[in-house]
Amino acid sequence: MIRVALAKGRLYDPAVARFAQAGIIIDPEPGRRLLIPSSDAGIEFLVVKPADVAVYVESGAADVGVTGTDVLRESDADVLEPLELGFGACRLVVASPASAPYPELPGGKTARVATKYPRLAWRHFALEGRPVEIIEVHGSVEVAPLLGLADWIVDLVDTGNTLRANGLVEREVLLPVGAVLVANRASQKLKLEEHLALMRRLGA
Ligand code: PRP
Repeated sequence: MIRVALAKGRLYDPAVARFAQAGIIIDPEPGRRLLIPSSDAGIEFLVVKPADVAVYVESGAADVGVTGTDVLRESDADVLEPLELGFGACRLVVASPASAPYPELPGGKTARVATKYPRLAWRHFALEGRPVEIIEVHGSVEVAPLLGLADWIVDLVDTGNTLRANGLVEREVLLPVGAVLVANRASQKLKLEEHLALMRRLGA
């Protein structure tokens, strides 16, 4: 049995579609079951928050998972990344109000940066030697500059619609992001044939 952790949210539908293309149909009506069977008796699914996919896979609770490189790099989990899946492309950026100067704030003030990605944001600014204060939030990040909670944000951008709608401008790209298949190290050794078969089907 191969257990697959899927992320809720933006990657869920394309991931289900990719498994369906590979002939693996997730039970569409699992009721309240959290371990979801599929049309393939050897593959079952669990659906978890994006940041938790790597936790389940690193621990071996799931053999493989589908996650974005954004939450994966933020977690720094020790998992294998055998396959780029070619969907979910977006980017992690620094954005700030269109009306405000960037990258300097008036009076040389230290910027406050709101983000769901505190580690990646901290690393980005630390590598550049730019002191910032990181404010961790868990969603609706774009509202933070409007309300004075932060000067800048670090967040995902896909179409750019959310930034534009909130008067923000993309300033720097931290990381190109996409969906990847991740795998547990021990599981890949112990169940090599099953892993290879799944990757062949998903990669085809
Ligand atoms: C992401 C991201 C932005 C938005 C960007 O949020 O945090 O808010 O999508 O997309 P756009 O450039 O196409 O407007 P998501 O919808 O994943 O939900 P979240 O804010 O709850 O994380």
